[in-house]
Amino acid sequence: MDFVGRDLISIVDLSQEAIFQVLEAAREMIPVARGEAPDERLRGRVVATLFFEPSTRTRLSFEAATHRLGGHVLTFGAPEVTSVAKGETLADTVRMVEAYSDLIVLRHPQEGAARLAAEFAGVPVINAGDGAGQHPTQTLLDLFTIWDEKGKVEDIHVVLLGDLKYGRTVHSLSYALALLGADLTFVAPPTLQMPKEIVDRVRELGKEPRQLEDPREAIQEADILYVTRIQKERFPDPAEYQKVAGSYRVDLTLLRDGGKDLAVMHPLPRVGEIAAEVDRTPHALYFRQAFNGVPVRMALLGLTLGA
Ligand code: NCD
Repeated sequence: MDFVGRDLISIVDLSQEAIFQVLEAAREMIPVARGEAPDERLRGRVVATLFFEPSTRTRLSFEAATHRLGGHVLTFGAPEVTSVAKGETLADTVRMVEAYSDLIVLRHPQEGAARLAAEFAGVPVINAGDGAGQHPTQTLLDLFTIWDEKGKVEDIHVVLLGDLKYGRTVHSLSYALALLGADLTFVAPPTLQMPKEIVDRVRELGKEPRQLEDPREAIQEADILYVTRIQKERFPDPAEYQKVAGSYRVDLTLLRDGGKDLAVMHPLPRVGEIAAEVDRTPHALYFRQAFNGVPVRMALLGLTLGA
């Protein structure tokens, strides 16, 4: 696929072939991401990172990726210090920023915000998370991590555990995993199950996901356990959050029910759903996963900016 000048709003916009194109390019980027090989392919290019919601990894890895490739970053610290606080619309903000940059990376609390921004921007827009909607670049780095760890994605059995209702990472990832031929099990408290439209999409791709409530039962045959945080900020009613807070936790006792090669992933941040004792075991893949955000975003920026 020709990525040059294209927006990336949803993972559904990418074919299997296009996904592997990014993953292959990301593999080449590893030494550059580690700072071991020079690469100036974004020299003179400006990437704007507009984050209207908290972020650590996504914003910093996009910015690290740009810097490592010799480009420049334009960003704002918090929406409160911009004209957004004066009531400027997203459409107007985007129209300004496109005049200052070559590409916009946007995170926004509203579902659909990235698509809207892309309509107004003449430069490519990359969705870095739109509310409970999509998070396609997280999916690319998650796929890269599975592919790198297991050597393939097809026929890998992935258990997605946690807030499947509000978690955007699992919405994008389920679709992509099904597209690439992985087997899926969804494990969530009853009120946080995967939305029907995502389950339907997975089915349309010929994969019937198992849906369970008990992680112990789910992980016995799993290759990957993908854990997510309960998305507290997306609950309309705080009392509903309190009912499910702390309802699952991955620790050494749980992992005894899984195989020895079971790898635990998490988009991070975690807030207690993976015990720190797991960090020291060979199961913990989440810190490498976080690093992989840099080469994957380098690959995507390079492809999109035609560098
Ligand atoms: C996730 C997000 O923002 O959707 N974080 C990330 O990008 N790595 C997951 C989360 O916030 O729980």
